[in-house]
Amino acid sequence: MAAKRKGSSPKVLAVLNGKGGVGKTTTAVNMAAIFSESQTVLLVDADPQASASWWVSRNPQPVTFDITKETDATLLGKLKKVNDYSLIVVDTPPALNSTALAAVVPVADYILLPTPPAPMDLAALVNTIKTAIAPAGVAHRVLLTKVDSRSLSEAVDAQQTLNSLSIPACEAIIRTYKAHERAALEGVPITHWRGANVKEARADYYRVAEEVQQDWSQP
Ligand SMILES: Nc1ncnc2c1ncn2[C@@H]1O[C@H](COP(=O)(O)OP(=O)(O)O)[C@@H](O)[C@H]1O
Ligand SMILES: [Mg+2]
Repeated sequence: MAAKRKGSSPKVLAVLNGKGGVGKTTTAVNMAAIFSESQTVLLVDADPQASASWWVSRNPQPVTFDITKETDATLLGKLKKVNDYSLIVVDTPPALNSTALAAVVPVADYILLPTPPAPMDLAALVNTIKTAIAPAGVAHRVLLTKVDSRSLSEAVDAQQTLNSLSIPACEAIIRTYKAHERAALEGVPITHWRGANVKEARADYYRVAEEVQQDWSQP
């Protein structure tokens, strides 16, 4: 792990969507793994269901980032004061009116909003962004997940819809691969999993990390 300048506050990357099953935990774990290749990372599991903790606990081999469970809103509101890491990734519960979420949004430097491209999923998320994310003034991007590689046009349509609503979306998309489910089952991030289609599954998340990094390096 890279050394961290002492005393500076960490960047906070929150992964959020009011719905469950959209790829939040998968995105949070893989972002933590990828960014921990170049910086010190803490993954905060703010979901009472603790899926990220479950994922990481299934593998006896240590991951390259630290992980902690924290659902207390007061403590989540103080994440910027955790000085030991350069990046804190927060996995959040699938609930919009939780106090935990209300605490995380104002301290986030960047919010990734994973969603499948299906119109109904998208409509719910657009509503969330308009009411809860955009007014908070936090940099954010929608990330299309669980995209069927046989119908990529669905993702392109979704990106166009978002564009027409002036909602920023990642150019990168996350395609559906069994590799993602299997990596979770074996307790490893996609970066450390071996098996069918891992190259594609991994590349999708590296592209997302690159885009986030680019957004951060903009003045
Ligand atoms: N790109 C993907 N391809 C295939 N399965 C995926 C993908 N992303 C997530 N999954 C699976 O979908 C389920 C829900 O994903 P998860 O990341 O736990 O969503 P959330 O945290 O939003 O509830 C899990 O079984 C996960 O392994
Ligand atoms: Mg989850």
